[in-house]
Amino acid sequence: MLPPMSQPTSAPSPGPADGHELASRAAALSIIEGVFSRAKSADDQFDRAVAKLEPRDRAFVRLLVATVLRRIGQIDLVLGNFVKRRPPDRVGAVLRLGVAQLLFMATPPHAAVATSVALVKQGDERHAGLVNAVLRRVSEKGAAMIAAQDAASINTPLWLWKSWVAAYGEPAARATAEAHLGEPLLDITIKDPATLAEWARRLDARVLPIGNLRRTAGGRIQDMDGFAEGAWWVQDAAATLPAKILLHALGDARGKTVIDLCAAPGGKTAQFAAAGSTVTAVDSSGERLELLRANLKRLRLAAEVIDADVLTWRPRELVDAVLLDAPCSATGTIRRHPDLPYIKRAEDIAGFAARQGQLLAAAMAMVKPGGLVFYTVCSLQPEERRPVVEAVLAANPNFARVKISKDAVAGESHFIDHVGDLRTLPSQWPELSGLDGFYGALLQLGIL
Ligand SMILES: C[S@@+](CC[C@H](N)C(=O)[O-])C[C@H]1O[C@@H](n2cnc3c(N)ncnc32)[C@H](O)[C@@H]1O
Repeated sequence: MLPPMSQPTSAPSPGPADGHELASRAAALSIIEGVFSRAKSADDQFDRAVAKLEPRDRAFVRLLVATVLRRIGQIDLVLGNFVKRRPPDRVGAVLRLGVAQLLFMATPPHAAVATSVALVKQGDERHAGLVNAVLRRVSEKGAAMIAAQDAASINTPLWLWKSWVAAYGEPAARATAEAHLGEPLLDITIKDPATLAEWARRLDARVLPIGNLRRTAGGRIQDMDGFAEGAWWVQDAAATLPAKILLHALGDARGKTVIDLCAAPGGKTAQFAAAGSTVTAVDSSGERLELLRANLKRLRLAAEVIDADVLTWRPRELVDAVLLDAPCSATGTIRRHPDLPYIKRAEDIAGFAARQGQLLAAAMAMVKPGGLVFYTVCSLQPEERRPVVEAVLAANPNFARVKISKDAVAGESHFIDHVGDLRTLPSQWPELSGLDGFYGALLQLGIL
């Protein structure tokens, strides 16, 4: 949060900002205020905030918002050097946007200052002098200040930093926090693995060791080659591993019955359907299920789609395998959602873990003897990971953990921890620009 601030001496006012520059900063301001004042997700606010903007300005808003969120600790420390009394929240948010542009984006200083002054005037003229003077001083002295900062720890809320250091050790926690400072690349799953090399060429993407594509160039996803014809879908490389591991354990997955619990928007459902399994996708969010249906339609893949609460729904018949992608704090996806640390709280974690245990127990009631259950979360918080599985296993001695083999993760054995569970961290694959943080455990019901 912002440090206290005081009124600095006044400086000459910059020239006026032009309309579209101001409109894009205003959109970014509304999103940032939504995150910090109302704990609203940046993604949920984005479409509405940028509705009237040109595509180029929308991309700028996305980058500006992400930069403020990724660098908030550094930005606030710099601001603390120039202001002593805490300003109103809106003024503080304008200053944060201004510092992000001055120190972490290539915005020319006069544009960053002029648009910030114009923006603050839209709310309250009285703070224009403060914003002008502070940002001019940041523009002169800020770069030297950030050069001396420990970016990884400063930009990570203390509760997350402490939890990751305790769970993974300081070097991995630091590398994870560093991975959150950069923009992630676009990962793509190809429907027909036989066409992987062809799509790598057509999409100008590299093939990752686990058989996905990763694209450096930007652009609108809907406009990319193969999107409309349903040749591929967007899915972080780590997010593909749970279904890959389950499919590997099933052997020939064609015709096998699989239930994908908490399925929407359907990345994992699509993996099972593309592999030839008979899939049932269950989720309790009607809105997200609409996305899942649209995705399957575009991909020309089939699944039975059920709008239900996993805690109470039961299948007509027991199945070969169940995947539970449980709702979680999602701290493994901070690279893609840098607002998460500010809309989730340490106090939420115990509630997530309790619900995950209930969902896993429900999932385990859905498989045949010998059937497989894969529990996964995209959380780095240790409470949502192995302890959930251990507790449910202790209460269900007819289930046993199956150690994940390195063949199931294409030989990337660093993705498997010492008990045989899946463990990816954003700090892994540094040479490839990382991947999201996932945990997963493979369980099997005994035959007798
Ligand atoms: C991590 S997301 C799932 C992502 C999805 N598996 C994929 O790969 O695209 C978690 C999902 O759980 C759903 N959910 C949460 N609680 C649920 C419940 N009790 N029953 C069914 N779905 C639930 C949410 O609506 C959300 O879509």
